Amino acid sequence: MTPQFNTTGIIGTGAMGRGIAQMAAQTGSHVCLFDSQPGASAKALEALCAQWDKLVEKGRLAPEQAAALKLHTRCVGSLDELAACDLVIEAIVERLDAKTELFMALEKVVGPEVALATNTSSLSVTAIGALLQHPGRFAGMHFFNPVPLMKVVEIIPGLRTGAAVCGALSAFARQMGHTPVRASDTPGFIVNHAGRGYGTEALRIVSEGVADFATIDRILRDQVGFKLGPFELMDLTGLDVSHPVMESIYRQYYEEPRYRPSALAAQRVAGGLVGRKAGEGFYRYTDGAAVFVPEASAPEVAAMPPVWVSPRAARRAELLQLLKTLGASIETGASPSPLALTLVAPLGFDITTVAVVERLDPARTVGIDMLVDDATTRRRVLATNPATRVDMRQAAHALMARDGKRVSVIRDSGGFVTQRVVAAIVNIASDICQQGICSPTDLETAVKLGLGYPMGPLEMGNCYGPTNVLEVLFNMQTVYGDPRYRPSPWLRRRGAIGLSLLHEEE
Ligand code: NAI
Repeated sequence: MTPQFNTTGIIGTGAMGRGIAQMAAQTGSHVCLFDSQPGASAKALEALCAQWDKLVEKGRLAPEQAAALKLHTRCVGSLDELAACDLVIEAIVERLDAKTELFMALEKVVGPEVALATNTSSLSVTAIGALLQHPGRFAGMHFFNPVPLMKVVEIIPGLRTGAAVCGALSAFARQMGHTPVRASDTPGFIVNHAGRGYGTEALRIVSEGVADFATIDRILRDQVGFKLGPFELMDLTGLDVSHPVMESIYRQYYEEPRYRPSALAAQRVAGGLVGRKAGEGFYRYTDGAAVFVPEASAPEVAAMPPVWVSPRAARRAELLQLLKTLGASIETGASPSPLALTLVAPLGFDITTVAVVERLDPARTVGIDMLVDDATTRRRVLATNPATRVDMRQAAHALMARDGKRVSVIRDSGGFVTQRVVAAIVNIASDICQQGICSPTDLETAVKLGLGYPMGPLEMGNCYGPTNVLEVLFNMQTVYGDPRYRPSPWLRRRGAIGLSLLHEEE
């Protein structure tokens, strides 16, 4: 293959620069490595050679290919030696002053036609390029860590970037075997912006005492299919990394409530409980492996009460069928008998409000999350209200566990865990579409590849139903009176007319 760029300069040869260098070299481009710290680029080159040797051992690279890659990758001792490059990618420290200065110095070395790119993850591309004499050839090229495995690259034009450089960078990303997505120059671009819903809402649920973090992880893994629960993910990334990202995006969006970070996370960062690398985060780690506390088994209940289901329950027909399958004695009266366990299945509303509005006895009322299709979920989630009697909670738990499916019981909140987190993810994704940050297709691709979600956020909205997600948000806004749950107009329009979230506008 003829590489899009014959010679690529990489400035900053830490974790990211090294990965980008590997991918650039593998397209056939010659690569020059530069780092201001003495010895750093030599160390990076050594690591790259070791990586290529490993690929040869695994049979994924021919020995002669590895030899060519080593021959075409070299260290340079000064910026001046990058003069012959036709692309320079910067992956230095994440500081605006450092990056601005570097590009100004670089402009003195390379010709005006040379493409320049920054790998910034949180700074504005426009701001970094503001002082350039030829800003048309400058763009963001945002890779993810580890670069060889994370197959998505965000291509970000600044306000003065020309179209040609974006096209060339996209083509180069494709040659690397990556998928380029186009993002406008906005805080967090696509992936770091779209990722705000997951951890942030989960932290909020914990801080409200609705459920502990291990329960939330189990629910989101089993009900939605996330590979890692939000707390496992934060432990893996390190809260010292993810919390500042949350703070930065919140600040850059002028304190938009949807991105409000959690005080709980700030305290954990201050205390050094940042995750796996510290030996302790939300979980404790021994020999690098998380210590999971086993889940309590379902209670034994001697006499199962009859069950009455609210006429306003979500997926009521399915819930009744489920109860039948589980062998429950189902009441069919207009109101529950004095002995009945009373089941409600709200979307967004809390169990307490539902019991009061429907004039049910709160002591016998338990909620079940029916946003999720019972046939596709590995876990059922129940919620009590502050008045729920222990015998009623245990009866509901035992009944729902009769077929061996796992059951979690959480405290009352507006929306269950899955409802809250899914609604937050879909709402933020909808707002990304509303702002025109990227196309819906690029959003789906970027989230699946960059965040490893089981489906794109819009597909997730479709899966649970745009109308249902909208209902969860409207009702949560009522329960909490918090503007963070205000639905994006983009979602509101589609939800209101029952349109697929992946429907492309004319
Ligand atoms: P790192 O700390 O591993 O490496 C940075 C390297 O840049 C160091 O070797 C340092 O000596 C060198 N450096 C610093 N200032 C320099 C200068 N003025 N001139 C030349 N070299 C200089 O950092 P990492 O993680 O590789 O990140 C680099 C960039 O990539 C940052 O902008 C970061 O925000 C971005 N990024 C990082 C990701 C990550 O997960 N680590 C993901 C995506 C983007």
